[in-house]
Amino acid sequence: MKTRITELFGIRHPIIQGGMHYVGFAELAAAVSNAGGLGIITGLTQKTPELLAREIARCHEMTDKPFGVNLTFLPTFASPPYPEYIAAIVEGGIKAVETAGRSPEAYMPALKAAGIKVIHKCTSVRHALKAERIGCDAVSVDGFECGGHPGEDDVPNMILLPRAAEELKIPFVASGGMADGRSLVAALALGAEGMNMGTRFIATKEAPVHANVKQAIVNASELDTRLIMRSLRNTERVINNAGVERLMEIERAKGDALKIDDIMDQVAGIYPKVMTEGHMDAGAWSCGMVAGLIHDVPSCAELIDRIMAQADELIAKRLAGMLRG
Ligand SMILES: Cc1cc2nc3c(=O)[nH]c(=O)nc-3n(C[C@H](O)[C@H](O)[C@H](O)COP(=O)(O)O)c2cc1C
Repeated sequence: MKTRITELFGIRHPIIQGGMHYVGFAELAAAVSNAGGLGIITGLTQKTPELLAREIARCHEMTDKPFGVNLTFLPTFASPPYPEYIAAIVEGGIKAVETAGRSPEAYMPALKAAGIKVIHKCTSVRHALKAERIGCDAVSVDGFECGGHPGEDDVPNMILLPRAAEELKIPFVASGGMADGRSLVAALALGAEGMNMGTRFIATKEAPVHANVKQAIVNASELDTRLIMRSLRNTERVINNAGVERLMEIERAKGDALKIDDIMDQVAGIYPKVMTEGHMDAGAWSCGMVAGLIHDVPSCAELIDRIMAQADELIAKRLAGMLRG
């Protein structure tokens, strides 16, 4: 399939693997890229720019296909040295960067000078338009159903994607709730040029996370995510578990007086405990409602081939058949 996104990133299929903390290591990024999508290493999971440089080098050893790096500008407790992370990205020969969290405006000159294509992930049309204005090459439009941070506007993709199509000139991919060929065809119909998946790629053979995490996603239904940190205006969609139940009890008790310190035990340092050690009740970790559509743990190549075959069948047979019909 050829779209403006496959052309922009030099990939075979219009499928991107979004950056994911403690999931987006070289193993997953390389597997997605080898399968014809765009794999992405999560920059800040690497604790220093030197470690990111090593992770990029490791990924180059596993694939000769293009892959990208995610740079997340979130309210973290200690601000990472972003210019040094960007230097590692540039020196690593990376040609695609997914930015997220806040506007990448301050870093656009450095990224553009290195010939890097920037895809900014955002949850509203106004932020997508800002990304277009500051020179981003594409955006990843992340609907309310997404795993991770859906923003505060609560607009699901059925509305958000066609709204983005009405306003944007640069190409965009649909993000949030994407799982299969049906998602891809729907995203294309709504104006996107491809799709970005997070949660679906965790439940793959190559995702270097504990088997308990993959099983939790397979077991979860579309009813099993919760929104936390709403009153802090840092909303996150996470899978429900005992740690999240505790967190929500604290949120209910504190109401609008909630401070981040009140829930530190449930949100700080959780990812290695969950993703590496498999302690599923340790606390809050991002997961999309799309878990309800995830029933197996295929390899990335099996997953992507299946998506493309299903999309082909849907377009050429089901939809075309309806037209003929
Ligand atoms: C476990 C997990 C960790 C994530 N970490 C990040 C991150 O560090 N930076 C980021 O930009 N997005 C992050 N995301 C969001 C994904 O890149 C992607 O936008 C989102 O998962 C799309 O929604 P979906 O899960 O419904 O596919 C994370 C998502 C998950 C599920």
